[in-house]
Formats: sequence, C-alpha cells, structure tokens
Amino acid sequence: MEQWLERLYIAAEGARLRNEDRRKAREVAALLDEIGRGISRFSRRSPIVLVDAAAGKSYVGLLAAKLVLDVSERRGRVITIERNPAFVSASRLAAERLESLTPIECRGGDVAEAAAWPEDASIVAALHACGAAADSIIGRTIAVHARMLLLVPCCTSAAMTAAARAEKAAERAGIPRHAPVRRRFIQAMVDAERTWRLEAAGYETEVVEFVPPTVTPHNLLWRARFVGEPRRMKAAEEALGRLAEGFSPCVPPADAL
Ligand SMILES: C[S@@+](CC[C@H](N)C(=O)[O-])C[C@H]1O[C@@H](n2cnc3c(N)ncnc32)[C@H](O)[C@@H]1O
Repeated sequence: MEQWLERLYIAAEGARLRNEDRRKAREVAALLDEIGRGISRFSRRSPIVLVDAAAGKSYVGLLAAKLVLDVSERRGRVITIERNPAFVSASRLAAERLESLTPIECRGGDVAEAAAWPEDASIVAALHACGAAADSIIGRTIAVHARMLLLVPCCTSAAMTAAARAEKAAERAGIPRHAPVRRRFIQAMVDAERTWRLEAAGYETEVVEFVPPTVTPHNLLWRARFVGEPRRMKAAEEALGRLAEGFSPCVPPADAL
C-alpha cells in the first residue's frame, strides 16, 4: 500500500513518504479489506458502483478500483466526490497514472448535494469524513438505497446540528463544562444518533475499531449493511425517539404545575 501511495501521489509530487503517509497506508489497506469483504457478498450479476465520498485525493476509491475490483474481476465503476478543486485535480491525475481497468470518475461537488451522487450507488466508503460531511453521507447513502456504507467519521465540530443538539442535552443533563468530559458526552450522543439513524433506515450497523488508535484517534468504522428488517427498524426508530427526548427541554408533569 505504501508503494502505491508513493507511486501515485508522493513521488509524483516530488516528495518522499512521511510517517503520516505510512499511517494513511494502514488505514487505506484496512478499508480496502472491508470493501473486498463487502462486495464478496454482492451478486456477480450486478455491477459494483463504489462511491468514495469526501474523497480528498481519492486514495480509497482509486486503490479499490485497482486492488479490489480489478483483482477480483468484478464489473463496476468508481465515483469519487470531493469539494476541494485542488484535490479533485490531484485525484484525476492519479487516476490516469493508475491505469485501472475499472472506470473512475472524480467528481467535484458537495456530498450534501443529491446531484453529486450516482443514483445506482451500491457501496459507499468514506474515510475521515469531517464534521457534517459524515451526516450528509449517511443521508445520501439512505436516499440512493446503497446496499452498504463503510463510514469513518472524523472531527465533530460545534457547528454541526447534531453537536449543537447534544450540547443542549449536556446542559440539561448537568454534564460539567470541563472540556474532556463534555466532549466525550457530545461525541457519544452524535455517534448514537448516527447509529440509530442507519438502523432505522434498515441498515444492520456495527461500529468497530478498524485500525488501532495509535494509527489515528478517529478509528471508528460504521459498517452498515442494508437488510430492511422491519422489527429492527421499528426498534431503532423508537430508540432514536428516546434519544431525541434527551435532546428536548424537560416538560414538568401536569400535576406538578
Ligand atoms: C480529512 S479529509 C479525508 C480525505 C480522504 N477521504 C482521506 O482519508 O484521505 C476530508 C475531506 O473531505 C472533504 N470534504 C469535507 N466536507 C465535504 C463536503 N461537504 N463535500 C465534499 N467534500 C467534503 C474535504 O475537502 C477533505 O478533502
């Protein structure tokens, strides 16, 4: 994996592999394993449409084309979505150097916009999708009925709607303002909402450490597979409701008024 990153991006930019590139190589390798396992469950009859969302320089999408789809001789295509034009250009150059048999399209756009997404996405991967992008990716995955999502969220910013709601819940629950305590509570609320949202939409969801925390502190992977099981969806919908109650202001019982 390090050799591929060096060949496609680093040597091409006139630089040398740094420690952070080596850590990135481990993350990409772990995610490609997940993608390989995921698509092995898909029928060979239908082509794989893999979306690399919030792609940056598209390490995941490009290398999945070459090392997963090409190697397993699966028909399909890869679409990468990234809003930073410089990264989109870097992705397109790397895609030319890659010489993959699988068609790759590097799109410039916002993951929140429906127009940026293919309607027939089958598997969505997002490595270190920052802040609100992670929630937009969950929303679009559900909207396009992708069969699988492999999501590694990154930082949680106060500007996110879910974080702002969690902040209010923290106030009501009396969570101290001490940053390390408050931050953990908010992160747990945001993560809980993401998990129940996927489950309520029919995705059987596991949350696992996909690499050790020494590689990256943002090492949780949401591995969500569409099963559409009605009882499971209803239970998740109810759990989402209970979570939202935690976000709502306390209403005193009528007899206390
Ligand atoms: C932390 S980087 C991760 C990039 C890449 N997935 C990786 O692991 O190397 C997050 C990327 O998401 C992009 N991004 C953030 N919000 C986005 C949005 N709403 N739509 C599209 N791209 C977004 C940023 O420009 C950045 O390139």
